[in-house]
Amino acid sequence: MYIRKAVIPVAGWGTRSLPATKNIPKEMLPIYNKPVVQYVVEEAIKGGIQDVVFVSNRDKKVIEDHFDYNGQLERILEASGKTELLKAVRDVAEMVNIISVRQKRALGLGHAVLCARDIVRGDDAFAIMLGDDLMFGMNPGIGQLLEVARSENKSVIGVVEVPQEEVKRYGIISGTEQAPGVFKVNSLVEKPEVSKAPSRMAIIGRYVLTPHIFDHLEKTGPGKGGEIQLTDALQGLADNQGLLAVKIRGMRFDAGNWAEYLTANIYFALQDPDLHDELVQRLKPLLPYAKEAEKIELPRKVE
Ligand code: G1P
Repeated sequence: MYIRKAVIPVAGWGTRSLPATKNIPKEMLPIYNKPVVQYVVEEAIKGGIQDVVFVSNRDKKVIEDHFDYNGQLERILEASGKTELLKAVRDVAEMVNIISVRQKRALGLGHAVLCARDIVRGDDAFAIMLGDDLMFGMNPGIGQLLEVARSENKSVIGVVEVPQEEVKRYGIISGTEQAPGVFKVNSLVEKPEVSKAPSRMAIIGRYVLTPHIFDHLEKTGPGKGGEIQLTDALQGLADNQGLLAVKIRGMRFDAGNWAEYLTANIYFALQDPDLHDELVQRLKPLLPYAKEAEKIELPRKVE
């Protein structure tokens, strides 16, 4: 199977991270010393992807710029002998080919993927990676899917088991396990009510799909929230060409959830030997305050 492109939709509003994302794309929020989107691109590269297709909009130009040279900055770093930093900024410009396509109207994730049709349709299959889901491990999310897609010659989506109360935040599948951790997908439903969820197996933002998905997306009308949903088009793929789901192993952070975003920051900062000891020293005295905060009774949140 010839798979060289990853589509990364980046045209979303990032309302979960407001007001931080009022004028900064959510994909550019830093996790320690790199923007969120760089972690996703690095995961793609680790999986063997060569071209990244950003489905973007007029406000997201800064994302493409991040993966380009910045001559002025490089000259300043060179002149001041900051060779390590110079290498770090150049490496980002050289890590991958960037292709950019506009999603001119925000009509949903399915529509965003459809915008990339002309760029990926010549390939046997392509990856889709959503920027909110960050995955780490020996073989991170997309690598696990690519392995199964190649060996089974089928479209594959990544899933994880989530607690009951969280099913309404995800696309949920029902499937038949055909090998440990690999399921044949029977049905999918986008963000169901708990009572209507067929399981607790949630789609996380990693997909490897054949271009058949575009035929199904073209026939997909507005679904949940009035948006064209990728999950609805995947049902067509499951019914006609077959669709597998793989339980993703490894560490995962939802960058749109403040608690997970902040934990990810600390997790990555702690990996830096220059920062580790000082950070631990500074965090330690904060923890008793965290305990106090737990005791404070907050008014119940109304949804
Ligand atoms: C999208 C998909 C949903 C999936 C989720 C994973 O929803 O529509 O099926 O479970 O990503 O993060 P979003 O979070 O963009 O609303």
